[in-house]
Amino acid sequence: MSTLGTSLDRVDGPAKVTGKARYSAEFSAPRMLHAVLVQSTIASGRIAGIDTRAADGMPGVIKILTPANAPKLGSPAMKSPLRVLSLLQDDKVHYNGQPIAVVVAQTLEQATDAANHLVIRYSEAPARLDFQAGRATATTPPKANQHKTDVSWGSVDAALAAAAVKVDATYTTPSQFHHPLEPHATLAEWQGDRLIVHDATQGVFADRATLAAHFGIDEDHVRVISPYVGGGFGSKGSTWSHVVLCALAAKAVARPVKLVLDRTQMSGPVGGRPRTEQHIQLAANKDGVLTGVRHAAITQSSMLEDWVEPSAAQTRMLYATPSGDTTHRLVKLNVATPTFQRAPGEASGTFALEVAMDELAVALDLDPVELRLKNYADRDPVEGKPFSSKSLHECYRAGAERFGWAKRSAKPGSRREGDWLIGYGMATATYPANRSKAAATATLLPDGTAVIRSGTQDIGTGTYTVMTQVAADTLGLPPSRVRFELGDTTLAQTPVSGGSQTAASVATAVQAACIALREKLLALGISGAGTPLAGANKDHLETRDGWIEDPSSPSRREAYASVLARHGGKAIDADAETPPSPATAKEFALHSFGAAFAEVAVDEELGIIRLRRLHGTYDVGRRLNAKLAHSQLLGGIVWAASMALMEEAILDPRTGRIANANLADYHVPVNADIAEVVVQFVDSEDLHLNPLGIRGIGEIGITGMAAAIANAIHNATGKRLRDLPMRLDALIG
Ligand code: MOS
Repeated sequence: MSTLGTSLDRVDGPAKVTGKARYSAEFSAPRMLHAVLVQSTIASGRIAGIDTRAADGMPGVIKILTPANAPKLGSPAMKSPLRVLSLLQDDKVHYNGQPIAVVVAQTLEQATDAANHLVIRYSEAPARLDFQAGRATATTPPKANQHKTDVSWGSVDAALAAAAVKVDATYTTPSQFHHPLEPHATLAEWQGDRLIVHDATQGVFADRATLAAHFGIDEDHVRVISPYVGGGFGSKGSTWSHVVLCALAAKAVARPVKLVLDRTQMSGPVGGRPRTEQHIQLAANKDGVLTGVRHAAITQSSMLEDWVEPSAAQTRMLYATPSGDTTHRLVKLNVATPTFQRAPGEASGTFALEVAMDELAVALDLDPVELRLKNYADRDPVEGKPFSSKSLHECYRAGAERFGWAKRSAKPGSRREGDWLIGYGMATATYPANRSKAAATATLLPDGTAVIRSGTQDIGTGTYTVMTQVAADTLGLPPSRVRFELGDTTLAQTPVSGGSQTAASVATAVQAACIALREKLLALGISGAGTPLAGANKDHLETRDGWIEDPSSPSRREAYASVLARHGGKAIDADAETPPSPATAKEFALHSFGAAFAEVAVDEELGIIRLRRLHGTYDVGRRLNAKLAHSQLLGGIVWAASMALMEEAILDPRTGRIANANLADYHVPVNADIAEVVVQFVDSEDLHLNPLGIRGIGEIGITGMAAAIANAIHNATGKRLRDLPMRLDALIG
């Protein structure tokens, strides 16, 4: 019986709950030292000097690296380094919180104490910290991440001039930080000219490339190991300064060094979602058919990099719009460089677009689901490509039915329970379906169990489990007799676990390697002395539960271990590398979709917003594991609720410091804030993306739902909130 799609428990669950699963900070090495990252306390200027005299003499202190004494690294030997790092190579300060020194000591406590005794003098320069003021000099970045900066089609101005109904509004989303349970952690050890690193990363191979480039050594002289990662969400999708600095410190002291970021250090030097301001104009005819859409996003980046949150990207494909104009501009400030944060672009972008669509529905006096159906895109409206597979219609239908959308009253404020106004809102969710080149090896051991290896990561998403399922299914073994190994650059190469691409990329390679291994096994099964399957056509044989069987004569069968025993008792193996995307991908637009529904209650006098029900219905391709898929979407929805109502990183306008760089002041929800979450899937498979028909599911859950909540608040109160997070002060007075 196939294990694919079943709710198999996480195969790494027992290791995690018993503490056997070791995360990067839990590794150690003989003679290991501890490093602490020291950060700037000004936002702009130069380091005039770091007086280490007091710290140098403190107990346990081994080395203090500063811009004055850090070994010179030169430019990274890379065609296009992903990040601009702060590696103590000069005395410039670009943001408050920039790494400016590393203290290495015998213990973490000694390093921390010594770091607090550094006397740092700055030559301060005026800092750019005002987003609003910076709008006047916003720049046009060369690219919006993987997207084009500007895309336009048709004439939006003409559409607006002729429109029966228009929406023209501006939406804002704040800076946010990821805060995975596990902060970043690195253990670096040099063995001669070879570097071995344990790192909390979403991409062991990207880590390896970055480290090799900065130290000017071959990639095969660097090994990165990362068996367990306690969440990444994009923050661990780049190799940040502390990773290279840890290796630099290890080199400087010629001993293994561990560097763990603390919670406060998660708000800055490892990226976050940048603040956005999004201006949207919609033009529609009187029937609610869109004739034009303009989406102008302004987002924030650092002085170091042009990093764009591509908030307008989904507006290029979500609705069948004959004209469109989508742009991204950057306000460069003395802040930390932002990065990917779960559904970078779509999370903030669907908030703006999907609230604007709700405003259009209100202006037209049209049901919001109906409005979306009227503008349903059967093809990508810009490129004209058909979608590889799209069941969004079914998401709207099934989601509306399950949620009870028909009970919605269109008139704001018309449903009440005591002091509480009740509202329903909905929105569309979407995220691209990505797939990259990947490789895997499959080995059948003499005892009839299999080991599958691929260098990929499990960032908490369930890679160990779903790859075990794919391998077990392909090899005809129960999952308990398959072991999957990952998280090591000595294994087969795979892409970064970002862009929701791990399952679609790596499962394809795992499946291909297991198909090749099964072929080898079958060839051995019908050959050699003593085979019970003599003369059988191997293409007609079946593999099940560790046995090769002849379905036309069930008594003719042989266990895998017996096949190998007859052939010398040695393991057999096979490997596979699968390409970035099948040739057909160029012909199709590849996206996942969903329909998000929310019910809220708002206290009429106090403005308190309570979530009651959040329902998401998704078209995300075939699911490899029902329970893990549910968990991914559930987590995405919870984060959308957090984004809608709570999360906001506060930049102190005087100092450029993040004022709430801790989990007490940076608000995230507890269970009581969330209420009921229902995750539903419509039947879907995407065989154009990969032979298994799967798309990624890690990110789409955070898209759409924040808008659905905003739209529900409007339905409850008649008040249109366009700025996240939405809090009671926006509803009173
Ligand atoms: Mo995801 S934000 O691409 O790790």
